[in-house]
Amino acid sequence: MTVQPQWHGGLAVHAGGSKLPAPMAPVRILPAPNGAIYGGPANNTPPSEYLADATRRLSDTAATIIDYTQGGIYYDGAYQDEVARCARQAGSYWIADEVVTGAGRAGRWFAFQGAQSRPDIVTLGKSLGGGAAAVAAVVVSKDIVERLKGTSWQNYGTLRGHPISMAAVSAYLKIITDDKILEHVQNLEKLFVRRLLAIAQKHPSVQRVAGQGLHWTVELHGPDWRDWHADTTEVPIASRVAERALEAGAVIGTSGEQTSLFLAPPLVISEREAALLLDALDYGLDIADKEHG
Ligand SMILES: Cc1ncc(COP(=O)(O)O)c(C=O)c1O
Repeated sequence: MTVQPQWHGGLAVHAGGSKLPAPMAPVRILPAPNGAIYGGPANNTPPSEYLADATRRLSDTAATIIDYTQGGIYYDGAYQDEVARCARQAGSYWIADEVVTGAGRAGRWFAFQGAQSRPDIVTLGKSLGGGAAAVAAVVVSKDIVERLKGTSWQNYGTLRGHPISMAAVSAYLKIITDDKILEHVQNLEKLFVRRLLAIAQKHPSVQRVAGQGLHWTVELHGPDWRDWHADTTEVPIASRVAERALEAGAVIGTSGEQTSLFLAPPLVISEREAALLLDALDYGLDIADKEHG
């Protein structure tokens, strides 16, 4: 469900350009949801309509993966439920890729909890170690555990179950609960919606704003990131906005794409710091407005 050339099946080359690695298995791509708080195409079509062909397309697939952030495409509960339904009907395992959204960033433990359906497999990483330890996890459903009984496979790694990483995971999970981080993210989400909407309306260079919890994408007018292959040495407009925002005191990510900026602050960011970040974005965007004309 991700369409960005540099992610999930593509390699960005540092000197410019990106290329697809040798195909290991064919990949099918389903239409993505279109949610955006600003600038999204008016889409009143229910997912059951634009995913009408999904069960057939998934019929001989091993698994179906939903990624909730890449490419600035965000959560849509009705979409998730429909994809999950089609995947189940097709006999395809549904994987929720929660490497970014899991363990708090979406304002709930898992992004997938925003709808009724539950995945067969969940991938976790990034925040799981509190940003302090390199940890990732694959969580499988009880059904899959049952299916795996009596089977074995090779799975080696130097740092598996490393005690320091495991201590970081335990500490992170405790802090999320003790410090009410999920509620904090939900409150900040309201601030981001309000401020980003105002910023988008003020800056003509902004084409689209989307996000949830503490992960937001601001897409600028200009070349579409879907076709952009990092094949120029010119500094992209998004990077120049980020440079200017840095002058105002905030680090804003760009994913290396030409026209998209993303905001993913630490979950413990205070309301005052969040306001500073949004002020810095506001300041940085002036440069894009000038070019937009
Ligand atoms: C949504 C998503 N899934 C998966 C990955 C890859 O995770 P890892 O680096 O643990 O392979 C990333 C990396 O940024 C990601 O953003």
